[in-house]
Amino acid sequence: MNTHCLVTGGSGFIGQHLVAALTRKGHTVTLLMRRPHTLPELRLQIDHLGGQGALLSAVSGDLAQVDLGLDAAALEQVSQAAVIFHLGAQFAWGLPAEQARQVNVEGALAVARLAAQQGSRLLMVGGFMLANQAHLQCLGVDLVTPQNTDWSAVYRRAGGYEGSKLEAHFRVVAAMREWRAELTVVHPATVCGHSQSGHILKAQPLAGLIGNLAGGRLSAIPGSAAHWLPLISVDFLAELMVAAAFDERQAGQEILALDARTPNLQGVLQLLAHVLDVRAPSRHLPIPLLRVLLKVPGVSRLLRTDAESLDFIQTTRFDTAAAEALAVRHGLSWPDMAQTLRLTARYLAGASSAA
Ligand SMILES: NC(=O)c1ccc[n+]([C@@H]2O[C@H](COP(=O)([O-])OP(=O)(O)OC[C@H]3O[C@@H](n4cnc5c(N)ncnc54)[C@H](OP(=O)(O)O)[C@@H]3O)[C@@H](O)[C@H]2O)c1
Repeated sequence: MNTHCLVTGGSGFIGQHLVAALTRKGHTVTLLMRRPHTLPELRLQIDHLGGQGALLSAVSGDLAQVDLGLDAAALEQVSQAAVIFHLGAQFAWGLPAEQARQVNVEGALAVARLAAQQGSRLLMVGGFMLANQAHLQCLGVDLVTPQNTDWSAVYRRAGGYEGSKLEAHFRVVAAMREWRAELTVVHPATVCGHSQSGHILKAQPLAGLIGNLAGGRLSAIPGSAAHWLPLISVDFLAELMVAAAFDERQAGQEILALDARTPNLQGVLQLLAHVLDVRAPSRHLPIPLLRVLLKVPGVSRLLRTDAESLDFIQTTRFDTAAAEALAVRHGLSWPDMAQTLRLTARYLAGASSAA
């Protein structure tokens, strides 16, 4: 059955692949866009990614504006959506806390309110650090009564982006519970390219890491041999999100979308270096030391690395049973992560030689 969906963040990396997956299955999609005039370009891109651009329409909206900046006609159009996918976010390191909070927290609450008011199912995208309880406690999140958390302190420790993603998650979960509305949350690991084409956007954190390796700026491996950067391929993530949104049993659930077969960081760098034809770093640099180095003026810019990105490199192992079970129930098979990484590196190398 075809379902009408509303997607925020549909022009972004994950959003493009989600919209391609939805329209490939015949669902019609309204996009909430800051720049709706770019819809024709996006339609072509969705066709290129294997979806059906003709099934897309757009309304003008902005997560930073009161009530999402939707006018009456736009509100009428979005009221047709049975499912809302909320992916839109300001995704960058070094974001001022207030800016991050306005878009990522107030914007997420406004999308949740819209879903609750019109009785749409909401699928919200969080992040895998929300499944790392020790890390959350370290940052000062009150896991028993999240509303008692001193969020300003969390933002100071985690940075604007991550702080706002954490606050948005806890506040949306509480609000949807109070409004007795249906919510499913998917927490993606760091997103890797497409498992068949390697497609990735240059602004993605993994593309930054690959760029640093290709450019000779990564002379040591951050962390120890036990450190890893959990990954998931973008197409598999999109399939999991679609499966979760249309599966009644996932209402009220949180799904950690993370490929537990991701090699450790050293293994990932070796794989990538082989494709890029550069030397893989072999020495390890402890993360606390790297953090200190990145505070030295100019080092962060020189290494094109931000201290905020280091939190995602860790030793924690996660329980991925919910995603494994969801994949089995919907007949989805996990792509080969090593091959996906190779294709991602090749895609980026091809994109930079074509530029
Ligand atoms: N990529 C990852 O590794 C990763 C991992 C875990 C979680 N996530 C989460 O997944 C979601 C999507 O990430 P992504 O990598 O696809 O991000 P992305 O490529 O940076 O895309 C962000 C999207 O949000 C939209 N947006 C930003 N500010 C907006 C505003 N004020 N109003 C309306 N739309 C706005 C952008 O639209 P414009 O075209 O107007 O800029 C774009 O469509 C985010 O919530 C992110 O936190 C990502």
